Amino acid sequence: MPRLTTRERRERYEREYSFQKRHGKPFFPNAVFHDTIVSLVVVALIMGMTILWHAQFGGVPGEGTAERIGGLLGPAYEAKADPGVLGYDPRPDWYFFFLFELLRIFKTPELLIVGSIIIPTIWMVLLIGWPFIDRNPDRRLSRRPIALALGVTVPIVLLALTFYGSKAPGAAGAVSNEPGAAAFAAGSCSTCHTLANAGTAGNVGPVLDQAMPDYARVLDLVTNGQGGMPAFKATYSEDEIKCLAGYVATWAGATGTTPGPNAASAKDVYPAACAKAGGLFAGTAASAAGP
Ligand code: HEC
Repeated sequence: MPRLTTRERRERYEREYSFQKRHGKPFFPNAVFHDTIVSLVVVALIMGMTILWHAQFGGVPGEGTAERIGGLLGPAYEAKADPGVLGYDPRPDWYFFFLFELLRIFKTPELLIVGSIIIPTIWMVLLIGWPFIDRNPDRRLSRRPIALALGVTVPIVLLALTFYGSKAPGAAGAVSNEPGAAAFAAGSCSTCHTLANAGTAGNVGPVLDQAMPDYARVLDLVTNGQGGMPAFKATYSEDEIKCLAGYVATWAGATGTTPGPNAASAKDVYPAACAKAGGLFAGTAASAAGP
């Protein structure tokens, strides 16, 4: 295509414009009519799915029933929120994984604003401003190296962020649902001790995953204290102490859901003592069945 002068380009545009004005279809009512029809179809589809959904479930299905878990259109309702769960691991829907991953890259509190606000804002401004920045009229890719490079890089970066976001491990500090874990994490143990299963990172006392004490030792220390470790016999009931001791003996040094090496020393009391202690000690599995 020969290079046109500004004047030639304007003339060409004006010819095209007057042609379209004479022969083209006007926005109103043509385009408005089409848009209205499509919007009505979408609304009708959503209403249809709602009616189908209601016909399938009727009222609110009971907790744990098949309908609750999944019908043709997905679950009727998700599980009831349990305020006792301290280890809830929030995750976005898949189409937000890229943002999730971006936030994971900028972990430190001072940099968080970069991932959460600054980069997305720059991105939005660029998207809005792009037609004003790139005035290149050429359509041939070889003449548009920057547009081509961006057009290839941006989807790749988004796909990669989405992929890594989907693989992100659970939130650090997530508490497991094992009986005793929530009490360990919420009580004072967490301020002094590191225990991976409870998601605690205290560093006053020994790292329990390394010490891996057996049941009798934890029971003794929690009851009577020793050195820098306070006694808890005035704070907790007997069952609560047994539960904590059983929990620590079972899960210190654990890998994932495989208990630690001293789990057997607690098997007579744990988790029975936790169920007896109740409340925060019982763990989510037990508390769901409780009152
Ligand atoms: C104020 C800090 C503090 C708190 C709170 C605390 N501990 Fe300790 N803990 C220590 C210190 C310090 C030691 C080391 C004591 C020593 O060896 O003299 C220790 C030792 C222990 C040990 C022995 C580890 C080993 O080496 O065998 C266990 C088990 C233990 N704590 C469990 C708990 C539990 C369970 C709780 C919560 C009920 C708790 N601790 C609360 C500071 C604390």
